[in-house]
Amino acid sequence: MEAQPVLVETDVDTDGQANFDRIIAQDSRIEPRDWMPAAYRKTLLRQISQHAHSEIIGMQPEANWISRAPSLKRKAILMAKVQDEAGHGLYLYSAAETLGQSRDQMMADLIAGKARYSSIFNYPARSWADMGAIGWLVDGAAICNQVPLCRASYGPYGRAMVRVCKEESFHQRQGFEILLELSQGTPEQKQMAQDAVNRWYAPSLMMFGPPDDDSPNSRQSMAWNIKRFSNDELRSRFVGMMVEQVRVLGLTLPDSEIRFNADTKMWEHSELDWQEFKEVLAGRGPCNAQRLERRRDAHDDGAWVREAAAAYAERQAVATESAA
Ligand SMILES: [Fe+2]
Ligand SMILES: [Fe+2]
Repeated sequence: MEAQPVLVETDVDTDGQANFDRIIAQDSRIEPRDWMPAAYRKTLLRQISQHAHSEIIGMQPEANWISRAPSLKRKAILMAKVQDEAGHGLYLYSAAETLGQSRDQMMADLIAGKARYSSIFNYPARSWADMGAIGWLVDGAAICNQVPLCRASYGPYGRAMVRVCKEESFHQRQGFEILLELSQGTPEQKQMAQDAVNRWYAPSLMMFGPPDDDSPNSRQSMAWNIKRFSNDELRSRFVGMMVEQVRVLGLTLPDSEIRFNADTKMWEHSELDWQEFKEVLAGRGPCNAQRLERRRDAHDDGAWVREAAAAYAERQAVATESAA
């Protein structure tokens, strides 16, 4: 079952390289059939598979609250949101497969702990208000990151992002609405909303990745038209959006240093704890072990479904063949 990645273009194909350079210079799209440099393929494969894993692992902190959502309406909305995230993971695994890596291999790497996913999903969701903070801040940061990716130079990735972004904006609004309702409720509910915002704020800013000085691959990704803005530019844009929206919520952001720098046109904020970021990324966050264990269990529990689907597909193929 294990397909190996097709990372074979070690020799430069001169015609292919010229064609690739022309497509990038025209800000047009590379498709799976086109020749592409091995490093471009590898970068995309890493980025898209990490993105897919993040969608799948990201289902856990919220799925955990479906049974405890405060009303039938909230349960239905949250369930739809978590299902959307599963769908995002599947589009993205499909996009990554066009680069020559099988989904089985990507899943094997994830459950073996060899693949990365966004560090944000290693934080626990402690109260119902966290569903609001995750939707507003985490899906909000995802939108800021992903809207420019709709124009990514790799066709299957850009196209997957268009659909994903439409759903993410629904996710952000449902999170905002949960926080708004809590904020306008009893003092205890308002405090619960504020606590959740306080806990998710800094980790959501870290979703944009390390500062530009410490992000060596960014420049190449921008030259290839995969990324359109640097980590710090996107983070600043996100802070500016949140500053406006938090006022409507009647809450505050847990950072008194936020200000707009009119010279640089950037939103400035306090230094983030990058040591914590590195620790969580290295597998030592509050929930890393639990997230992987749950994914492994779900994968094992789903083995019969995969076997049944494969057996059915085989039977259908035989039937089609004999009919022909
Ligand atoms: Fe998503
Ligand atoms: Fe989402």
